Amino acid sequence: MDAVKRQLHLNLFIHGRGHHEASWRHPASSPLALTDIRYYQDLAQRAEAALFDSVFLADQLALGDDAAQAARTWLEPVTVLAALAASTSKIGLIGTCSTTYTEPFNLARQFGSLDHISNGRVGWNIVTSWLATAAANYGGSGQINHADRYARGEEFMTVVKALWDSWAADAVIDDRDHGRYALPERIRPINHKGDCYQVAGPLNLPRTPQGRPVFVQAGSSDTGRRFAARHAEAVFTAHLEKATAQAFYADLKSLTAVEGRSPEQVVILPGLSPMIAATEAEAQRLARELNELSDPEVGRKRLSGRFGGHDFSNLPLDRPLVPEDFPATASVEAARSRTEVILSLVRRENPTLRQLLGTLAGARGHFTFAGTPEQVADLIEDWFTDGAADGFNIMPPLLPPMLDVFSAEVIPLLQRRGLFRTAYEGSTLREHYGLPWPQSSFDEAMLEKV
Ligand SMILES: Cc1cc2nc3c(=O)[nH]c(=O)nc-3n(C[C@H](O)[C@H](O)[C@H](O)COP(=O)(O)O)c2cc1C
Repeated sequence: MDAVKRQLHLNLFIHGRGHHEASWRHPASSPLALTDIRYYQDLAQRAEAALFDSVFLADQLALGDDAAQAARTWLEPVTVLAALAASTSKIGLIGTCSTTYTEPFNLARQFGSLDHISNGRVGWNIVTSWLATAAANYGGSGQINHADRYARGEEFMTVVKALWDSWAADAVIDDRDHGRYALPERIRPINHKGDCYQVAGPLNLPRTPQGRPVFVQAGSSDTGRRFAARHAEAVFTAHLEKATAQAFYADLKSLTAVEGRSPEQVVILPGLSPMIAATEAEAQRLARELNELSDPEVGRKRLSGRFGGHDFSNLPLDRPLVPEDFPATASVEAARSRTEVILSLVRRENPTLRQLLGTLAGARGHFTFAGTPEQVADLIEDWFTDGAADGFNIMPPLLPPMLDVFSAEVIPLLQRRGLFRTAYEGSTLREHYGLPWPQSSFDEAMLEKV
């Protein structure tokens, strides 16, 4: 029998009416409001029918200052995931929640509950929140710096892991005859006393189907990568070229080994935003059509947000850019890695501001591509087999049409090449991603007794 080929993982990143900045204006994007739950349910069901591993919802904790010119509103992810859990049955459900602006006890309850509601299909995208304006909505004492956000995040992880482990899997016996609901010796406090958090525990929720949610992370700075190497089971990452994706892949896999984990325990998923049509010329025409709907002033504001609020308003649109037009990356307290992606493009190609904004409008610094289904499948196979990816974070420029074309035309090619599942084999997100089961401290205590 042939050995089973290494399998590709696909996540659908649901964002606005598509990832292209102008998708919300395009006549082919969904007519539903971005506050209508049926929009998200419909996309998750389409992705499940196409056998995607998971869907993903991002989150920011402040309204962007381009709210008047861009449809950038969304529903709170934990709430949406609960609705998606009830309207799907197989697909994994990943939502973002910030370690900087919530308490570990709240988060452990919310994602623990979601794991129960979905029967083990939940993932948590761990973010420390890079957006400077979020700080003003939480106490107003200013943004915590990059290093401190990660230090706090580290302690946050210790606390939530302990809370999810505070119930043994067999703690609930639900014995009506003898009036015993749970075994007290199988539930224990955590008594955490650290620099940022004091949490007694235990969690007020039995152990969840996956033990805890799958840990997803997308930090790409040095600190972010080390955090991922310690905790992440799936990693999202943004690249504008294959070479940087390969370098990131090799680095993160080796950092993971340094942390004493097996490199297969981290599934690396770079973003890919494919515009797909029967001919390459038609795909490029569609991409141009969307670019022509974009507003450079919206792009300028987004760029400013990426660089911690830096003022780009006096920069001319049509002069080639130089790195000196940007603040030094080390001084940016926002998302360092994405600012680095942008700066290396400027160093490499000296685009004008208008050209740079055009590139970022496609998918905010993720890889964009316009071509035929065959070309998209070739690109996916190439990155997958050449040390750049374990799968992809699919970011359709236009929703739902570009998801539908991807599902109908690209996925069958990947299946024919033996790279992608033809049916769901497992029922949890952990199983879809081929991840090991987390050990709890109760399991270890049990093993010692045996
Ligand atoms: C696909 C993807 C999705 C992300 N989603 C969010 C998000 O929802 N909220 C957020 O605050 N940051 C999000 N980020 C940003 C990362 O969490 C992280 O802050 C960023 O990559 C910068 O990492 P660094 O601070 O280590 O440089 C995302 C990044 C990627 C690549």
